[in-house]
Amino acid sequence: MGEMKTIVISLGGSVLVPSLESNNIAAYADMLSRLAQQFRVFVVVGGGGEARRYISAARSLAIDEATSDEIGILVTRLNATMLISALGQVAYPVVPVSHYEALEAATSGRIVIMGGVTPGQTTDAVSAVLAERAGADLLINATSVDGIYSADPKKDPNAKKLDLLSPEELLAIVQGGRMDAGANNVIDIVAAKVVQRNTIPLLVIDGKHPDNIAAALFDGIFTGTLISGDNNSVLPLK
Ligand code: UTP
Repeated sequence: MGEMKTIVISLGGSVLVPSLESNNIAAYADMLSRLAQQFRVFVVVGGGGEARRYISAARSLAIDEATSDEIGILVTRLNATMLISALGQVAYPVVPVSHYEALEAATSGRIVIMGGVTPGQTTDAVSAVLAERAGADLLINATSVDGIYSADPKKDPNAKKLDLLSPEELLAIVQGGRMDAGANNVIDIVAAKVVQRNTIPLLVIDGKHPDNIAAALFDGIFTGTLISGDNNSVLPLK
């Protein structure tokens, strides 16, 4: 048997916890434990609406941006803790607070789940750097939109969904986005740059239904945007 392939999933907080009352934590726990039978899995969980609410409350207290980021990071770790707890034994029990700790946790053979690490970026950047350091075979961005568009579909009626992109094309699209605390772009610029400098393919996929991720990985069936330098036959991941 060959070595297990490694996957890093950037799981948007708004996807995992659209609201506390109707969250997707159980469905994600199910799907992730299935993936873990075949792959080495890292998950970086975002802060979602709750992080944005805290950040806007912090701003109205005149708290600086970096401190507001730190508050956002705490919310990402709170969401990570919920997912870890729902997974039980299959997950590493502690939320790593650095890439180094995440790699160390992965030696347990369990699913490693973390949140943010440092102000001035988002969990997309965390997941891209982690993918690089873990030698990942695939980075997945599970988000609340169904892929990357040529322009913001909310503002531009001519915006088209892009099925396949080169890392350079991704970077060109991402440049120009906002970068303050709580900023909400499909992918942040740090992530786009890391994706560009390494050769790890990135799949941007609608994460509202976690089975979409399983179908992409196991069956190669998906809608979304695949960013890949040299080949478009990365899925299914064998
Ligand atoms: P994210 O913006 O990564 O949350 O982190 P998210 O849930 O992925 O966003 P959606 O739901 O997919 O759109 C929330 C906030 O936490 C801070 C930033 O302020 C960010 O906006 N953060 C997160 C950091 O400062 N550093 C990190 O490493 C991660």
